[in-house]
Amino acid sequence: MRKAPPPKPAPRLWCVTLLLLLFGLSGCSGSPSILTPASRDAAQIADLFWGVLAIAAGIFVVTEALLIIALVRFRSRPGVREPVQVHGNQPLEIAWTLVPAIILAGVFVATASTMSAVTQPQPGALRVQVLGHRWWWEARYPGQGITTATDIHVPVGQAVEVELAGADVIHSFWPPELAGKTDVIPGHTNWVRFTADRPGSYLGFCAEFCGAQHANMRFLVVAETREQFDDWVRRAQAQAALPTTGQAARGAQAFLSGTCVACHTLQGTAAQGKVGPDLTHFGSRRSIAALTLDNTPENLATWLAKPQAVKPDNLMRIPALSGETIQDLVAFLESLK
Ligand code: CUA
Repeated sequence: MRKAPPPKPAPRLWCVTLLLLLFGLSGCSGSPSILTPASRDAAQIADLFWGVLAIAAGIFVVTEALLIIALVRFRSRPGVREPVQVHGNQPLEIAWTLVPAIILAGVFVATASTMSAVTQPQPGALRVQVLGHRWWWEARYPGQGITTATDIHVPVGQAVEVELAGADVIHSFWPPELAGKTDVIPGHTNWVRFTADRPGSYLGFCAEFCGAQHANMRFLVVAETREQFDDWVRRAQAQAALPTTGQAARGAQAFLSGTCVACHTLQGTAAQGKVGPDLTHFGSRRSIAALTLDNTPENLATWLAKPQAVKPDNLMRIPALSGETIQDLVAFLESLK
């Protein structure tokens, strides 16, 4: 008879768990958290989280304590008879139905009142329309006549009412430090309301899987003092400043006579395309392609040379450009402050 193979060592489960935990934690560094709120609304959501966590922790402790007591006290010993059976005990059945129901009702009331509080319309709110596109965010300020992308400027201390609409598929708008997740649905308007407490650039994500570049569909909520915001509004309202000399002027010429105009708008020019982001003040934005790349001349050149290599499947499909044309376009686009 063949000898049975020696038993394999048991997988070091704890080791794997610890590693996964470390990977998980390292993934969190630098990411915005709902637990560092920068608006009263996000603070209410964080409070709700802590409250529910405390209740869940209390339930865990009580349940585990009862379990351990039962395991130790009532385990079978020689000479000990089977304990009294409680199956069908009516008071007990009622108690363990009622107590969880009361706890859940409490959590429901707390959740519903938080939801109601954070969605309450605020007087004097700044209205911003945000459209989710595959895969970038368009922001329009109807009261100010501004259209921009990715960087959503808001004043600190003033309520902001974000009107969400989807241009193609379902996305989800989520700036964790300012507000909760809200679906962005084509043909249906949803609202997000928040008031930023302090200046800062708050990272936001698309929180609904929407295709190949879902992960590269981020945005920044730039919360500024009133003066900074008003200053931004003044600059953003201006039409595109077309350079008249040098490399940037050649870039403007290439832009306006090329295929760029089919998809992009430059306010005050014949370029009125609506497929891609409005580029009127592209040079003042912090990133390219919804925070896929930092907005630097080198990155812009890379993007213009191979947009499909940087962000596969995006809608920017342009004919190959010569190195010279790319440099002209970079000079032009970066001059659009
Ligand atoms: Cu848009 Cu995910």
